[in-house]
Amino acid sequence: MTDLTLGQPPVHAALDFFDDQHPPAGDFLRDVLTGLAATPKSIPPVYFYDAAGSALFDQITDLPEYYVTRTELALLDRIGPELAKRAGPGAVVIEPGSGSSVKIRKLLSALDQPAGYVGLDISGEHLIASCDELARDYPGLHIGAICADFTTGLSLDHLPLPKGRRILFFPGSTIGNFEPDAARAVLASFRKGMREGDAILIGADRVKSPQTLEAAYDDAQGVTAAFNMNLIARINSELDGTLDPALLKHVSVWNAEKSRIEMHLEAREAQQLQVAGRSFSLAKGERLHTENSHKFTPESFQALAESAGFDLLESWSDPAELFSLHWLEPKAKA
Ligand code: TRP
Repeated sequence: MTDLTLGQPPVHAALDFFDDQHPPAGDFLRDVLTGLAATPKSIPPVYFYDAAGSALFDQITDLPEYYVTRTELALLDRIGPELAKRAGPGAVVIEPGSGSSVKIRKLLSALDQPAGYVGLDISGEHLIASCDELARDYPGLHIGAICADFTTGLSLDHLPLPKGRRILFFPGSTIGNFEPDAARAVLASFRKGMREGDAILIGADRVKSPQTLEAAYDDAQGVTAAFNMNLIARINSELDGTLDPALLKHVSVWNAEKSRIEMHLEAREAQQLQVAGRSFSLAKGERLHTENSHKFTPESFQALAESAGFDLLESWSDPAELFSLHWLEPKAKA
């Protein structure tokens, strides 16, 4: 499978394939105008992750209040041998929304002679760079990269994947960023690309005290606030916006009914603003809703997995039960 090169730009020597599925770029202007015209007002979270936003998110993962990343990394270390047993030898790991290469290294190092790794991300450049690095550190592992939007499903049939059981790796608390129906749809679309015997290893953050949660999304150093505020900087510079960051404040609130942390930008006072020549007004205290992070109980996560067509075979948590990793396999077809 060495000379199979799909798509442009040309494959890096280190990669077995690069498959560019040309994910359509989001329409930032249209989405912002639609969100500002809605009640309540919102800005879609996909626009958080430009270069500055991604760098701020990296900082979030190191914050003392943001327990999510370090808890998951320690958990991966602890359960490595169990994951190796579950996966068996020769697995092919596929990572939708690959990004943090630290987690995948822990998994690949724990597994028993994995046969391959496929990173899938919407940002092709970043993806190739991180897959290249992996290829350097894991010689002998077949590595491919797919530039695609995982929320629209996984298209794998045309790719030269090594044979072997496929393990989808979906760490972090990304599944929690989707509303329940969308989370179910994402899992169900993963399932379509899976065969009997394949599995998903997925992270899910747990319900805990509102104080702990609100602090994790509103840290003392203000990094999360800066991350949220980065949307405002992008609107001003890319969409000819006139939003005054000094008139907005970052808030994180626990919504118990929906079992989620919500991120908002709240107007400190009444204000007018323009985006691309269109005017909007914010009342004092009015909020722009920017993100949700749903938190799960063991039962609520199991219900989600089952409703998407999976059996939950095993779950692992840290001793303080802050965060869980779950092993899901497609339900046998009746
Ligand atoms: N997936 C991460 C989470 O829900 C994303 C995240 C962390 C985030 N902190 C944030 C998103 C602050 C928006 C604002 O934990």
